[in-house]
Amino acid sequence: AKLAVFASGTGSNYDAIIDAINNGTLDAEAALLVCDKPAAKVVEKAKHNGTPTFVFDPKQYAAKELFEAKIVEVLQEAEIDWIILAGYMRLIGKTLLQPFEGKIINIHPSLLPAFPGLDAIGQAFDAGVKVSGVTVHYVDAGMDTGKIIAQDVVYINDEMTRDELQSAIQQVEHKLYPATIQKLISGGESS
Ligand code: GRF
Repeated sequence: AKLAVFASGTGSNYDAIIDAINNGTLDAEAALLVCDKPAAKVVEKAKHNGTPTFVFDPKQYAAKELFEAKIVEVLQEAEIDWIILAGYMRLIGKTLLQPFEGKIINIHPSLLPAFPGLDAIGQAFDAGVKVSGVTVHYVDAGMDTGKIIAQDVVYINDEMTRDELQSAIQQVEHKLYPATIQKLISGGESS
């Protein structure tokens, strides 16, 4: 299957996907990286790995529909099967959602429906919950609201700092995302 990874930042989940492809646990091709932040670290990583990129600056477009239409064109040109959101910090609009409905997934650093939106790790930490985790879900028009595909748990003990929680969550993400993508593309999870 041909994957397009969408990211806006560091790209540690992009790295985990590339590692899983390289070590043979994920039977897919990282066919494209889409990034809305030209200066993001993930862009350098993709260039280094030889992943083709589509990098754009939303400010260069008069409306979201216009850059999403361009993205759809690039995705179709690359014959992309799945869109993998990995820290892409934008809601997906109708223009992109319609042609790829059921083929777009996201990873979120909480046990949804708890703590949707920005800084889910901080939200969970501040709430003092003792259990949080990671969710992989289908993307719909809402903010972190699509059907849940997989979840994994992270326990929060009283000594844990916010940074420690973040790194525990990231470790779980880096295992759960490639494993869930593998199940999906091999038909092991249904929508
Ligand atoms: C991850 O925590 C992911 O759950 C969230 O954004 C973060 C992206 O991190 N959606 P990275 O860029 O993959 O390191």
